[in-house]
Amino acid sequence: MLGGVVRDARPRYAHLVQERPMALLYKADPVRGKEWARIMAERAPDIPFRLWPEVGDPAEIRYIAAWVPPPDLGHAYPNLEVLFSVGAGVDQFDLASLPERVPLVRMIEPGIVGSMVEYVAMAVLMLHRDLVAYVAQQRERVWREIRVRPPGGRRVGVLGLGELGTAVLDRLGAFGFRRAGWSRSRRDLPGVDCFAGAAELPAFLAQTDILVCLLPLTAATRGILDRRLFAALPQGASLVNVGRGPHLVEADLIEALDSGRLSAAVLDVATPEPLPGDSALWRHPRILLTPHIASMTQPETAVDVLLANIRRHQAGQNLVGLVDRSSGY
Ligand code: GLV
Repeated sequence: MLGGVVRDARPRYAHLVQERPMALLYKADPVRGKEWARIMAERAPDIPFRLWPEVGDPAEIRYIAAWVPPPDLGHAYPNLEVLFSVGAGVDQFDLASLPERVPLVRMIEPGIVGSMVEYVAMAVLMLHRDLVAYVAQQRERVWREIRVRPPGGRRVGVLGLGELGTAVLDRLGAFGFRRAGWSRSRRDLPGVDCFAGAAELPAFLAQTDILVCLLPLTAATRGILDRRLFAALPQGASLVNVGRGPHLVEADLIEALDSGRLSAAVLDVATPEPLPGDSALWRHPRILLTPHIASMTQPETAVDVLLANIRRHQAGQNLVGLVDRSSGY
């Protein structure tokens, strides 16, 4: 009887309130994790925030936001409902070990997009204005000019036309480059020559002076930046790899640079990371390397994107950025 009275006295919308505890576990860069904790406390005080390795009761973890997920996800977190990547890529997740019932979601947030656009614009401009050659000349105290080419005569091609590739191409338009893009399935972007599928890859490459790799890393794209691909580019083309290290066959790049087939490369990713001190990439005069910093998730904007997705999930709506396990992105 008492139980019945208590139930009847509940607020009208009580059935909408989540009854099981629902904590979010964060497991990525710990410094940015502290920022996540502060922002989450302000914007979502109803969702307890746990910063790895302080997991608390694993049964309370309903959401995990991770760069590299904790081990044994399937068993260690029996009530896990959604796994969020804190990065745009999800290749660091072992999809086979992730229970079928748990959706995996990529992070697409304004901070990642904005920093990627900046980095690629910088790299493309550096290659367009021969900065890699000038850095090498400076080391040798050589004062020699290279003729400036107008941007309208420089063809920039982006491999991968997702959110990042599309945003990059959009911004590159402001400089007056000729722009093209290639994707697995056909896209249509204003001012961009769009190529699609394996059959159109050679035609795309044949008309690309500066190639930017923004592909997801999947079984189909691993090693795609290889000797065969370099041979399909115009003589003296250059490369920007902001995808993943394993997209590139490093020995093939070095051979292509040494033979003059490629003129320069800007690499933000490597295999493995950190790149070992004895890698030939460090010392190559036509390679510029950065330590996987092209884009970085910004807590201020990423928390909002993640919370909007959690609210969508709670309301039974579709998640934005949901990974299709069959394609791997
Ligand atoms: C970084 O590499 C990311 O996937 O966001």
